[in-house]
Amino acid sequence: CSSSGSAESDKLIMATNAEFPPFESKSGDGFVGIDIDIMNAVAKKLGKELVVEDMEFDSIIPAITSGKADVGAAGITVTDERKEEVNFSDPYANAIQVIIVREDSTNNGDLTGLKVGVQQGTTGDTFVDWGNFGEVASLERYSKGFEAVQALAQGKIDAVVIDNEPAKVFVEENEGLKILESGSISEEYALALSKNNDALLADINKAIQELKDSGELQQIIDKYIAE
Ligand code: ARG
Repeated sequence: CSSSGSAESDKLIMATNAEFPPFESKSGDGFVGIDIDIMNAVAKKLGKELVVEDMEFDSIIPAITSGKADVGAAGITVTDERKEEVNFSDPYANAIQVIIVREDSTNNGDLTGLKVGVQQGTTGDTFVDWGNFGEVASLERYSKGFEAVQALAQGKIDAVVIDNEPAKVFVEENEGLKILESGSISEEYALALSKNNDALLADINKAIQELKDSGELQQIIDKYIAE
């Protein structure tokens, strides 16, 4: 449909990093995943057209604060640090940070002295940096989580710290890796919005609540995550 002449507010611009299956990944010319489906359902309820903007993960919050995008939807964990920059919607999913190692590793969750890979700017990055997994020998930051996992499979690093669901997908896609559940750090995912847009935040929270009440949110999650 033509958008010429229509107000900018007919569109809902979603900032994401489509390197995080099953929440968002590229598919052909488009995008698929839990966040994409949720945001399509939210946009529909708001009577807006969803526009997906793919970018580096650590560019998402700047895109929101600068007004280039309306909503960050990227499996974004709610943290106190991020709350200083953006407003978060009500949470829509839970996650934990896990450690991926090679199958022959006897590691039991202490990454002291190891070379550890993360996706730049993620909570995995922060927690390893803070020493939550021990004092690592080096912290290797990749622009994509998948690149960190490939480096691990190739023996360039010893472990990767990443969210549990993408971990499962990446381990399936690479031979010889296994997941250690750290179990210690649980997180909630929410949508990130500008602090100057309370009306949109209220509309989005209402839409999320409706998707929860109708069972649609769970259906979207079940479509991508088989237990
Ligand atoms: N949950 C983690 C965080 O908020 C990782 C999210 C990464 N998401 C992505 N689309 N690459 O930092």
